[in-house]
Amino acid sequence: MAVKDLFPLSEEHQMIRQAARDFAQNEINPIAAEYDEAGIFPMKTIKKMGEMGFMGIEVPEAYGGAGMDTLAYVLALEEICKADASHGTIMSVNNSLYCSGLLNFGSETQKERFLRPVAEGKAIGAYSLTEPMSGSDAGTMRSRAVRNGDSYLINGRKSWVTSGPVANFIVVFAMTQPEKKHRGVTAFLIETDKPGFIRGKMEPKLGIRASATSEIVFEDYCAPMDCRLGEEGDGFKIAMSVLDAGRIGIAAQSLGIAEAAYEASLAYAREREAFGQKIGQFQGIGFQLADMKTRIEASRLLVYNAALAKERWKTTGERFTLEASMAKLFASETAMFVTHAAVQIHGGIGYSKELPVERYFRDAKITEIYEGTSEIQRLVIARQELGLR
Ligand code: CAA
Repeated sequence: MAVKDLFPLSEEHQMIRQAARDFAQNEINPIAAEYDEAGIFPMKTIKKMGEMGFMGIEVPEAYGGAGMDTLAYVLALEEICKADASHGTIMSVNNSLYCSGLLNFGSETQKERFLRPVAEGKAIGAYSLTEPMSGSDAGTMRSRAVRNGDSYLINGRKSWVTSGPVANFIVVFAMTQPEKKHRGVTAFLIETDKPGFIRGKMEPKLGIRASATSEIVFEDYCAPMDCRLGEEGDGFKIAMSVLDAGRIGIAAQSLGIAEAAYEASLAYAREREAFGQKIGQFQGIGFQLADMKTRIEASRLLVYNAALAKERWKTTGERFTLEASMAKLFASETAMFVTHAAVQIHGGIGYSKELPVERYFRDAKITEIYEGTSEIQRLVIARQELGLR
């Protein structure tokens, strides 16, 4: 049963959602299990998504993007993730962690050189903040960038870089003035075909196995001055404001995963019989489905609301940190709740690789961890509400 739309969609929004749905169901869904099992990056479908404009949805056409708004991005991402969260992760990092940072903080020359090829889907972008010894406490990074004439020498090791093994360009954060703590962080645009950049060990993952994740290592990597993103010392604020956008993407991903698991459960509850009746006729199953549906629709409101808040920020400059964190927190916990219930409703077959339900369950877990754990989202929300630090 469709819930009455609180967010009436324009013709343009309906069109992008339909295009993403058709592509996801026809081209991604049939290959998702195979790529998950093998842990292979789906280069062919990602290229096609680039050709369709899905890799730079909010980037203006003048810079090679689709020139659409945040709601369009969220609607498309939700549909892609309904078919496969791995494709969604790659799309999300490309759009919201890479393109949005460049769009907001890049110079005209940087946009032409680093944004256009990624927004056009001809190159892949990534974002690298986390290190082996600094995750949630991002301001304690150890990577160093030392000024050397009109360039910087970068040394260090970064971890958990989505698309790290395949990215052409990466926004990387390193300390230029460690004594200033988070105010000493600077952002750089890294070209992965340059000497001093090394792709490190692959991260072996529970879920989103078709999205490639690795460490990256810098050994005297030389970043010329024109590859610095923003001013020296602006890096932490750039990282945080880019993550605000990224968290809306992860919220949309969570929504897509939850919807896929719910729809599978609903169909199964209508068909599967036990003790002489359809299992959906047991109150125990019906109540679970009711809770799943209600949480999904509540998540949708938060996710679309966050997209609208980000859209408003483009004109007012008013931060959407609170809306983004609430959407990510609630939608990711919903994805975990719904996929957990989906496996249980399916019973043994839900635990089997014959159905995608176990994949939804494995994929959902990361949404409570990456781009800020649920604990970090709660901290951000509480600080925003209290106005205390
Ligand atoms: N936008 C702009 N500025 C912001 C901001 C935001 N959303 N959040 C904080 N700031 C600014 C603050 O105003 C403050 O500025 P001043 O220096 O002028 O005072 C500065 O940043 C420091 O802020 P805090 O004092 O709040 O910093 P903190 O050290 O207490 O940390 C935190 C805050 C929320 C815990 C932050 O460190 C955080 O979000 N941690 C989680 C990191 C994270 O999400 N990592 C995931 C990385 S990406 C990934 O998962 C991999 C991938 O490839 C997908």
